[in-house]
Amino acid sequence: MTLLDRATSALVDQRTAVVSAEQLALRLGRWATTDATLSASLADGIARLVREGELRGGDRLPSERTLAATVSVSRGTVVSAYARLYDDGILDRRQGSGTRVAGTPPTAARQSAGRAEALYATLPSSIDLLRAVPPISPLAVDIVQRHRPVLDASTVEGDPAGLPALRSLIAQLMTDDGTATTAAQILVTHGAQQALSLLVDELVSPGDTVLTEEVAWPGFTDAVRRRGGQVHGIRLTPDGVDIDALEMAIVVRRPVLIALNPHNHNPTGVQTSLAVRRRIADLAAEHGVTVIEDRVLAHVSFDGVTPPSLASLRPDAPIVVVESLSKWAWEGLRVGWLRADPVLVRRLRGLRQTTDLSTSVPSQLLAIDLIAQAPVLRRTVATVHREAADAAAKLLAVHLPDWRFRPPRGGLWLWAQLPSGSAAGFARYAAGLGVSVAGSAQFMSDVDADDHIRIPVTSTPAVLEAGIQRLGEAWRGYVGRG
Ligand SMILES: Cc1ncc(COP(=O)(O)O)c(C=O)c1O
Repeated sequence: MTLLDRATSALVDQRTAVVSAEQLALRLGRWATTDATLSASLADGIARLVREGELRGGDRLPSERTLAATVSVSRGTVVSAYARLYDDGILDRRQGSGTRVAGTPPTAARQSAGRAEALYATLPSSIDLLRAVPPISPLAVDIVQRHRPVLDASTVEGDPAGLPALRSLIAQLMTDDGTATTAAQILVTHGAQQALSLLVDELVSPGDTVLTEEVAWPGFTDAVRRRGGQVHGIRLTPDGVDIDALEMAIVVRRPVLIALNPHNHNPTGVQTSLAVRRRIADLAAEHGVTVIEDRVLAHVSFDGVTPPSLASLRPDAPIVVVESLSKWAWEGLRVGWLRADPVLVRRLRGLRQTTDLSTSVPSQLLAIDLIAQAPVLRRTVATVHREAADAAAKLLAVHLPDWRFRPPRGGLWLWAQLPSGSAAGFARYAAGLGVSVAGSAQFMSDVDADDHIRIPVTSTPAVLEAGIQRLGEAWRGYVGRG
């Protein structure tokens, strides 16, 4: 082995896993159930794990003898399974470095951040169906215009954790929402996004694994990648994340962090069922893994019911709740918060001293006035977007009758599946015709998919109608080009 080979394999070891026979057996599950021979079934099982990203380029597999003993087959069975996988180019055998999954380990470039940025790339003079920013309600405008900030000794400087009065008010709001909270558990931030970024900076180290939904808010997944973490997406079902897959991934991948957006998920609108929410909370408690519960959209449920937090279901679990005023009061105010145990809050308070010191005091003072009207503001945003989602669904039926979507029960968008073609290709084509939209590529965590378009329903009715009509024209042009 040359020096270069040795250096390369040392690098590979840092970024890839040495997969033990027990781990591989666990990941394979019940692999010997097909009619094929044992060696063919085993090869199929391993090939499937590579295809699904459970095993990645560079991962080192157990020796034939150890795997054979662990899965109770003869060594010859594993030898011929591996042999087929070498022939198919799925495995690679290098002298001195054992059997590895072929291909290179995920590189910084492949894991590169930057999906969220694409959501700000509306072309000038085109209709913006990229961003999903709720309008400010007349009540919120009124509160802002009447606001008279109290400037005194307590507001000259901002505490990195937030103004005491605001922290107490947020604790009261969360307690009223069903999650008993004290002011010491609250850290006020510049929006939920800063809360997510601070948590990632504090809890994730380069090379760590973080779990999230397979389709996820890119502001979070980008933050993990920037930190050098590996994101792994869990399949999303109409009831929330596939809970068995989540449990399996916790055991096999040992994530340092899980982040979920269980209520009116961005971009699919999925509302996680109570049964799944309970199991997520139990998994957090049983495995001691921190779960971030992103609740920024929890109040945009069309039936007006805000689900209780995961944190309230298992107060003993390490669940950090992230919320903000962005979706129900004013996105531009940039005020959000996180609720965590007071020890973590103090650590993050320290971290802020190296980032931005504290949240802007005028914004916090205004947040106090807005939170005082939280119930009405939240109800309004849910009603406005329920009506907008109904209107958008009708427009889609007229202009894009072959696009499929599940009527959302909450959230700020429709997540529509194209019957054919590429969402990214279509989005580029539509941008050329004056309407900007985001497709699957902006939201997929680590799985490749390219068949959905997100249609925000936050614009005025006139813009929404013009936008969907133009999308219809673009779709006919795109399909017509073949
Ligand atoms: C799921 C999700 N989390 C977090 C954020 C960031 O919210 P904020 O504006 O409070 O920073 C967004 C913004 O759209 C979001 O959709």
